[in-house]
Amino acid sequence: MHEKSTAIGQLKDISTWVSSVNDLNRLLELILATGTRIMRAQASSLLLLDRKTQKLYFKVSTGTQKDKMKNFEINVGQGIVGHVAETGEPLLIEDVTQDQRWYSKISDEIGFKTRSILCVPMKAHNQVIGAIEFINKAEAESFQKSDLELLNVFADVAALAIVNAKKFQAAERENKGLKQALGMSHQIIGQSREIQEVTADALKVADSRASTLILGESGTGKELLARLIHQGSARKERYMVTLNCAAVPETLLEDELFGHEKGSFTGAGDQKIGKLELADQSTLFLDEIAEMSPSMQAKVLRVLQDGIFYRVGGNTPISVDIRVIAATNRNITEEITCGNFREDLYYRLNVVELHMPPLRNRKKDIPLLARHFVELFEKEKGHYHIEISPAAMKTMVNYDWPGNIRELRNAIERAVVMGNGKQIMPEDLPMQSMQAKLNTVEFGFSMQDAVDDFKKRFILMNLEHTGGNQSKAASIMGIQRTYLSRLIAKYGIKK
Ligand SMILES: Nc1ncnc2c1ncn2[C@@H]1O[C@H](COP(=O)(O)OP(=O)(O)O)[C@@H](O)[C@H]1O
Ligand SMILES: [Mg+2]
Repeated sequence: MHEKSTAIGQLKDISTWVSSVNDLNRLLELILATGTRIMRAQASSLLLLDRKTQKLYFKVSTGTQKDKMKNFEINVGQGIVGHVAETGEPLLIEDVTQDQRWYSKISDEIGFKTRSILCVPMKAHNQVIGAIEFINKAEAESFQKSDLELLNVFADVAALAIVNAKKFQAAERENKGLKQALGMSHQIIGQSREIQEVTADALKVADSRASTLILGESGTGKELLARLIHQGSARKERYMVTLNCAAVPETLLEDELFGHEKGSFTGAGDQKIGKLELADQSTLFLDEIAEMSPSMQAKVLRVLQDGIFYRVGGNTPISVDIRVIAATNRNITEEITCGNFREDLYYRLNVVELHMPPLRNRKKDIPLLARHFVELFEKEKGHYHIEISPAAMKTMVNYDWPGNIRELRNAIERAVVMGNGKQIMPEDLPMQSMQAKLNTVEFGFSMQDAVDDFKKRFILMNLEHTGGNQSKAASIMGIQRTYLSRLIAKYGIKK
């Protein structure tokens, strides 16, 4: 009885190690040492199965000869361990010399007299991933059926530890890869005075808690600048949490930000942690903040003032330490005048205000950016060293880029895909082909045909540039949105 309760206690220890020890070898050593102690065995080994080679390798061992074990490998089906790995069934052998499955070579070579063996498979998802064996019970006793039961539990815990650690390692590798990829696509490129100034200002305020408001047209790099600030701050070890206020319907925005308690409203399901909580000790990037309704703005303001909020349906105050960066492409002062944006929130957010310049005001950066994006996409597409022809470069520098860097990036991606894989030509660029499309009126058209044709293509171009955003396209063309809708219907332009 006493023996059993200590065994359970030690098993409990092991399960806490499984979640806290990240070094798999160290963890397996701990597990095996504990098992050997409970089992009162003279020696033990944990072996892992390699599916490809169909061999078992000694991962960790205990006992006087433990350091020699790493030199050996065992084929599936060979010896007691190999047999267990092959069948997936445990074996208890009281006297190995009486068992023809016994493979004596290892014992002979290391000079260890093996008498009895208790061996169990380790399984994950019903597949054998290895085996654990205990050798010679102390004081000339033999292993019992009850030892076998205990060992089965051990094997399960060890298998879990291995699977967990492998997942953890895979996640870590993936994380590293992603971080590298992000590093490349998150670099702020530009040597113009405009971009140098704004990045210098951003870095100056990075390592403070100061709320920051980033203004600028769509596609100018506001989100990128927010990341730069976060990376330059003491909070960089944590992920920057992003919420795009325009992408979430108003009704869900509160849930996204504050989270909710289990069953707090119909369909609420389990408890949900909101972005405010996720961003604790980190940075919260509120993108397109001007799209938030005034009532939501009031709630956000309260959190920023108090540093405390409640999950929806909850009554425990949650205190958070958040650095807020907000961004909008709207004219924020105009939004305040119209009553769409709360002045008090504005003052709370723009402790620091940064302006991202539009690309047309820093044409100097276009060649640099174009090269940067070519390098980014040629790798992705498996091409190398794609040049930009002088004519294509000229087209890009002369173009106005209403969609800013995002539009340039998309244009290059398209050109890399559509082009000849060696050199980007003007006709690979979308604005060039759109320009061509605008000039296709033909002889024989009536004036009305020509005008209609032009209008249709003109609208199409603007819709393409704005990613299908009709309000934006209308405002760029200087017409009413409702009028644009009518024209779209009239000319049968597909969305
Ligand atoms: N200075 C820059 N250097 C390199 N890439 C940039 C730069 N500015 C923006 N980008 C890229 O352009 C795209 C749009 O940037 P983003 O930050 O999302 O703009 P915004 O938030 O202002 O709409 C992104 O793919 C971003 O990586
Ligand atoms: Mg954006």
